[in-house]
Amino acid sequence: MKILIIHGPNLNLLGKREPEQYGALTLDQINEKILLRAKIESVEVKILQANSEGEIISEIHRALGHFDGIIINPAAYTHTSVALRDALLAVALPTVEVHLSNIYKREDFRQKSMISDVAIGVISGFREQSYLLGLEALINHLKNSKP
Ligand code: DQA
Repeated sequence: MKILIIHGPNLNLLGKREPEQYGALTLDQINEKILLRAKIESVEVKILQANSEGEIISEIHRALGHFDGIIINPAAYTHTSVALRDALLAVALPTVEVHLSNIYKREDFRQKSMISDVAIGVISGFREQSYLLGLEALINHLKNSKP
């Protein structure tokens, strides 16, 4: 089982960036936790972070035929990107949307996601645990949907 994990814009600044929203861990520390969990679950993961919308979309295109599913924290593009939504629809890979903060208890503009209804599900608000919960959910989904 191969899973692509995508961190969207500004998440490279985790640790320094609004720790009251996103926690104190750096992206490298979060990635270490993800890699450890993936090893325990015996799944292969590729993790990437990109600040530009086009780069994220190209990576989603490249995932087709190479990955079984996607975990994505689209960050600010969550709320704006029809292009990102269309890319996920185009490759039709099972996708879990994750957020460190609970987007539903923040500003109004964050409460709208372009991605949620094309994802299997959404995990929002559990800081770095959101990624680990997302990984668990996606693995279960993929196991249960194998013919
Ligand atoms: C975020 C929430 C988004 O609204 C914000 O733009 C981010 C991070 C989160 O993980 O909580 O950059 O996706």
